[in-house]
Amino acid sequence: MRSSSIPTVSGPTRLRLPDLLRITDQAADAVLRGRYNHLLPSGDIPTQERRFTRLHSDDEVDVWLISWVPDHATELHDHGGSLGALTLLSGALDEFRWDGNRLRRRRLDAGDQAGFPLGWVHDVTWAPAEQAPALSVHAYSPPLTAMSYYEVTEHNTLRRVRTGLADAPAGHMTSRINEKLHVARARLRRLHAREVPAAVRRGAVLLDIRPESQRETEGAVPGALVIERNVLEWRCDPTSEARLPQAVDDDVEWVVLCSQGYTSSLAAASLRDLGLHRATDVVGGYRSMAEAGVLEQLNAALLRSVWYPRHQHGEED
Ligand SMILES: [Fe+2]
Repeated sequence: MRSSSIPTVSGPTRLRLPDLLRITDQAADAVLRGRYNHLLPSGDIPTQERRFTRLHSDDEVDVWLISWVPDHATELHDHGGSLGALTLLSGALDEFRWDGNRLRRRRLDAGDQAGFPLGWVHDVTWAPAEQAPALSVHAYSPPLTAMSYYEVTEHNTLRRVRTGLADAPAGHMTSRINEKLHVARARLRRLHAREVPAAVRRGAVLLDIRPESQRETEGAVPGALVIERNVLEWRCDPTSEARLPQAVDDDVEWVVLCSQGYTSSLAAASLRDLGLHRATDVVGGYRSMAEAGVLEQLNAALLRSVWYPRHQHGEED
């Protein structure tokens, strides 16, 4: 006799992690037997580029074949309201999971499986192995619809950066420019809008690279130097004849900002390429600074910065 009226289905899906593990196992087997060759480019398993191929989709579950290659950065993410699982067919992957205090790494080798309960936040990357590339089959139930992305803060906490609709799992980058952006951002310690006034007080130089039309529409940033994107590197490089007076050495903290914080990441990465190792940008750009109400604080911050950094650098007035 049933003693409880607690429903046996309490989650967002009828399926459980063991079901998803079994589904990925069976799909991996089918991939190896060539059953999905018609979905793969020229019938082959992709080996040269990161690729997502949807093997199956219904109301309950979607199943993906993912190929992994080196040097493709991803981001910490959750899977929204979906459970997930993977089976690794070949190669190796590193999973970095947030355990509440820090990122824990585990290595997955060919044949290994992993399940992702609700609330699981992780990043998965290609790992060196004799047998490359890495190929994995993933299942999500209910099918992925939205995912959130995170970064670890300087206080060792997790900060949600954004939430977006997901059309592909586990890395979720469907264009080369997105890949490039993620690689660029992985090199930066980006500033959030509220951190900008403090950065200016300690001597950071704000660079507004928005085009003139955008500056006119949106408004100016107090204290920022307006530098058009096409001359940025020449102005910041301390060895360039066209440098700014502020470009005294490689230790200047250049903080690039644009309208929404996309092209500024690429620009900051380009400054890093020049050896300007403190270059970074502002998450969300001008718009987040306006929303966070920090533009007004910049004048005061700037007044204090005029003296300290210049004397620190030994400049003569
Ligand atoms: Fe994932």
